[in-house]
Amino acid sequence: MGLFIEDTWMEIFLLITTSIVIVINYFHKTYNYWTRKGVPTIRPKFPLGNTNILLPRSFSVGTLSKRFYDEFKRQGHRFGGVYLVTAPNLVIVDPELIKDIMGKDFQHFVDRGFYYNKEDDPLSAHLFAIDGLDWKNLRVKLTPTFTSGKMKKMFHSMIECVNNMKEAIDKSLGEDIDIKEMLGRFTTDVIGCCAFGIECNSFKYPDAEFRAMGHKIFQPGLLKSIRAFLAMNLPKLALRLGVKTLNEDIAKFFKDIVADTVKLRQEKNIRRNDFLQILIDLQDSANFTIGEMAAQVFLFFIAGFETSSTAMTFGLYELARNPDVQKKLREEICQVLEKYDNKITYESLNEMKYLEQVFDETLRMYPPLPNLNRRCTKNYTLPDTNVVVEEGTSLLISALGLHMDPEYYPEPEKFDPERFSEENKKARHPFVHLPFGDGPRNCIGLRFGLMQSKIGIITVIKNFHLSVSPLTKPVEFNPRTFLLSSKNNVYLKAENE
Ligand code: HEM
Repeated sequence: MGLFIEDTWMEIFLLITTSIVIVINYFHKTYNYWTRKGVPTIRPKFPLGNTNILLPRSFSVGTLSKRFYDEFKRQGHRFGGVYLVTAPNLVIVDPELIKDIMGKDFQHFVDRGFYYNKEDDPLSAHLFAIDGLDWKNLRVKLTPTFTSGKMKKMFHSMIECVNNMKEAIDKSLGEDIDIKEMLGRFTTDVIGCCAFGIECNSFKYPDAEFRAMGHKIFQPGLLKSIRAFLAMNLPKLALRLGVKTLNEDIAKFFKDIVADTVKLRQEKNIRRNDFLQILIDLQDSANFTIGEMAAQVFLFFIAGFETSSTAMTFGLYELARNPDVQKKLREEICQVLEKYDNKITYESLNEMKYLEQVFDETLRMYPPLPNLNRRCTKNYTLPDTNVVVEEGTSLLISALGLHMDPEYYPEPEKFDPERFSEENKKARHPFVHLPFGDGPRNCIGLRFGLMQSKIGIITVIKNFHLSVSPLTKPVEFNPRTFLLSSKNNVYLKAENE
């Protein structure tokens, strides 16, 4: 009997020891991946590698990648390897290499490498996430959605929405305005109208469903963080577990709204100038299911309202802090609009060169998507080295790192639109300003995003003088969001011009 118990204890002891040895071996092997390949690396720590996600004082993904960029740059490397938990990621530092990877050698880096799950979470299978041939075919089909002709048709809807925002600011003169909330309502109205043909009027009905959904999607939460952690770091397991990145009610809301609108339009022969109409028109040739259509419209919704409202928030914040820049911009706006009967027209937007500089500088300091991701789809030898990037390896390009690099932008914390004058732009490498990414997988909604952001900024600056108030806190990035966003509300004061 005694011998039997001893044997059992021995077995348990051996089992635990063997498991520990296997785990140590696994991490040792995993964390030596870059060293074996002769790639410079930052020493990883067990068990989170080079990340500190899930820890209380964690960084946002944008800030984390910038740290990697800064470290490899400081050591004089063109690239370096890190471990996101256990997944090896190659951080590219040299803009010439970035240019090859995003452009000339794109065929080796077609995928973004994000988690999506067609079966269990159909809304996640959108253009931003999907891979390979599926991505290529869909990108070709969706490209005509964003031509300048289509944008021109949506321009008037945007003007209607921005007038509602002007009225709302008029009612809050002299008060501390939560500018992010104000701009979030504006872009929600725009995307509601331009994607779904639905008038949301978030200014009149701030709790309307669209605005509520917008808040819900970007609200951080523990369960959401766990799902995102699994999806990003253990995608195969996440796929097997059927992990959904979206709450059930959000998915249902978008699926129902698309199904109902498509049905209504088909039955009543209604046509509108919106994204959904373009998808309906494509339905015959593209064979879209309602689920696939809902996924794309859902993506337009999330990509369309949050990126632009964040960019405008940061832009107006810097304009409030820099009254000289604000004054110069206002002068340009008034001068150009004088030619157009004091009204914003589609053509007038392209004549405002200083506005473009102001917005470029805003996107430099605050790129809404601070990281660009690619996954190697075909083995690739990094130019002028013998390092082979293996198929399946993830690549990280830190737009924020490049944008805040003092070699390209001296005194990077200083807001200075002169950096984007024609001659200053020409003097820089083109791949050190990447707010919309680059190459065949760049932002498909660039024109739309620029148009709505410019309309928003013009309307505010033309009509109001903006200033900071004692409530305006210095911007600190939120560690819990994928897009770059301010941790605190951004309060500004508006007065009549
Ligand atoms: C200021 C506004 C915006 C910014 C800064 C922005 C930025 C970006 C960036 C950096 C990427 C990744 C590019 C790359 O990997 O090379 C991207 C992709 C994308 N964006 Fe935007 N975006 C904006 C507005 C919009 C809007 C308004 C829409 C749609 C209505 C949109 C739809 C998309 C889509 C569908 C992709 C994925 C493209 C693909 O993988 O083929 N974006 N965006």
